[in-house]
Amino acid sequence: MRELRARGATVAFSYNSAKAKAEALAAETDARAIALDVLEAGATVAAVERAAAELSGLDALVHAIGVASTRVPALFDDDLADAESGLDRLLAINVRSAYVAVTRAQSLMTNGGNIVLLGSVDGEKSVPSAPPYAMSKAALSGMARALAKVLGPKKIRINVVAPGILEAGASSVVPERIRVEYLKHSNAKRFGTSVEIARTVAHLAMENTYVTGKTMVLDGGL
Ligand SMILES: NC(=O)c1ccc[n+]([C@@H]2O[C@H](COP(=O)([O-])OP(=O)(O)OC[C@H]3O[C@@H](n4cnc5c(N)ncnc54)[C@H](OP(=O)(O)O)[C@@H]3O)[C@@H](O)[C@H]2O)c1
Repeated sequence: MRELRARGATVAFSYNSAKAKAEALAAETDARAIALDVLEAGATVAAVERAAAELSGLDALVHAIGVASTRVPALFDDDLADAESGLDRLLAINVRSAYVAVTRAQSLMTNGGNIVLLGSVDGEKSVPSAPPYAMSKAALSGMARALAKVLGPKKIRINVVAPGILEAGASSVVPERIRVEYLKHSNAKRFGTSVEIARTVAHLAMENTYVTGKTMVLDGGL
């Protein structure tokens, strides 16, 4: 969000539980904060429409909404018990909301534009991960590949940015043993930062004119 504002974009962003943080960020950056629970019927479409109305149109959509696991503590590769618990919720937040947001947003992008989905290295490579999370992120790459074909003639590009483990955010549920393994195999020998991811997202959202249907894995070289 900050990176988009720094590059001169007018921005609306959604929040779910972090109301105070979102309002402070909106005030700091002069952006619009929109409350959203993607699990409520019709809420995702309404949020996209509200953003387009408040911004007088849409040039880009970034879908970063996601949850890391079906449960707390997180389900990882060594625990396949109780597979159905939380699965529909995770898929609704990570996959369904992205598809719904994209389909509504593309119809409002009358002058073309860019769509960026936040995937994960877990959806691209065979790394230790929570299987439901990995398959939800892989779904975003399939979504982007298919939609790139449909949206190309409308001058709309759609891509996925797939981070590895970052210093903060969703990765807080990753167990220590996996964090240690990650650092062992990473060429960069460190976790990524949200700013490093945001730079690529902002480039794809605001400056990209030709890349589409692709997944960019930003994992420090695993
Ligand atoms: N951090 C990492 O290491 C990492 C690595 C790979 C991929 N990613 C991906 O990058 C994206 C952003 O991750 P992050 O690290 O910034 O995680 P995060 O801080 O947990 O952000 C997740 C976002 O999803 C929103 N959200 C969750 N449930 C929602 C719901 N039911 N309705 C609407 N919004 C909801 C949250 O809103 P509130 O905070 O307001 O509740 C928050 O804005 C995610 O898609 C994540 O999977 C992160």
